[in-house]
Amino acid sequence: MKNFDFHNPTHILFGKGRIADLNEHVPVDAKVLIIYGGGSAERTGVLGQVRAALTGRTLVEFGGIEPNPHYATTLNAIQVINDNDITFLLAVGGGSVIDATKFIAAAALYDGDPWEILTSGGSNIKAAMPFGTVLTLPATGSEMNSGAVITDPDKVAKLAFRSPYCYPLFSVLDPEITYTLPARQVANGVVDSFVHIVEQYLTYPSAAYVQDGFAESMLRTLIKLGPKALETPEDYDIRANLMWIATLALNGLIGAGVPQDWASHMIGHEITALNNTDHARTLAVVLPSLMNDQREHKHDKLLQYASNVWGINEGSDDVRIDAAIMATRAFFEKLGIKTRLSDYDIGAPEIERIITDLKAHGMTALGERHDISPTDVRRILEASL
Ligand code: NZQ
Ligand code: ZN
Repeated sequence: MKNFDFHNPTHILFGKGRIADLNEHVPVDAKVLIIYGGGSAERTGVLGQVRAALTGRTLVEFGGIEPNPHYATTLNAIQVINDNDITFLLAVGGGSVIDATKFIAAAALYDGDPWEILTSGGSNIKAAMPFGTVLTLPATGSEMNSGAVITDPDKVAKLAFRSPYCYPLFSVLDPEITYTLPARQVANGVVDSFVHIVEQYLTYPSAAYVQDGFAESMLRTLIKLGPKALETPEDYDIRANLMWIATLALNGLIGAGVPQDWASHMIGHEITALNNTDHARTLAVVLPSLMNDQREHKHDKLLQYASNVWGINEGSDDVRIDAAIMATRAFFEKLGIKTRLSDYDIGAPEIERIITDLKAHGMTALGERHDISPTDVRRILEASL
């Protein structure tokens, strides 16, 4: 196991009815900016619950954060913060709203051009406004991590950053408010969580037995419960388990002390920047192809994954690895998520554009060994057409 630091300061308020507890966690004298998305939080009554919990505080609202949040929209929110002397931010939504809030929190106090936060990966952030979140879509883990991803459609750029200043102070996780999610977003959440775990697990052995055990347990649970959540959307325990897995998948716990891949994510971000494909769907396309392409580098972990996650123990190494990759693809498809680039209107010319954009964003040495080059990415994408 490698050396590591693990410090996660986010207070989790988990369970039914916990939005009411915002009252204890948002300072009574705060001037709060409630940040939300395209209107689902209003329609589902979540915003109503939030307003009721925060009675007595000065509340200002900023809606309209897009899925794959836009840089320009975050700048408008900073103007509202300055105009209203806001002291506290509250994100109410999925990963996009929470990511946008992290960027807004940092950019509001940044001395310089906020775009630099994205080009530096967040390393130049020196402070951020305090913020909490009410999570409505379990998927990204943004509710308990310090990272975020912001898109500028004009620049065809989707760039990630992280900073220790960008952990939420608290996050409310009420599984009941996920009942209103469309099936497409439930499936997206399961696949995004699944791939977060795989990116930190399916690398090479590092004698991190406990991290491997957590990862395998969460993967098996997603395989079991993901399809059930689509069949019985109002089963509380299924929703509760999926919500907590999404958080644990990317809050630093299973990634501590282990090699990490993230190539599927970096390639996937370029696909979304190009044609706005849902984040999780880009991962469902890239991951099976990448597993196959990198089967020699990932040989030992692929066999462990086949056995401990899928119960595949018969046949030669290659037969078991093939079966595990096929099972992964079939799982995504069972959730209603297509796994071929051509399903998302991407052909050979778009692959060239993705390669150009990866190079422009410095993504030329990907994977746990930093050896996946743009040439390798082209091969991986061509195999997923
Ligand atoms: O915008 P509204 O109207 O709120 O509707 C949203 C949106 O259309 C809807 N929704 C959310 N909660 C709902 C709901 N509809 C009904 N009932 C509810 N309870 O769902 C749609 C998608 O929301 P979005 O926030 O975009 O989805 P997700 O949570 O998957 O976030 C995706 C973004 O997170 C980034 C992705 O790249 C993408 O930009 N990621 C962030 C990460 C992080 N911060 O650590 C890691 C991830 O790998 C990922 O890159
Ligand atoms: Zn993701």
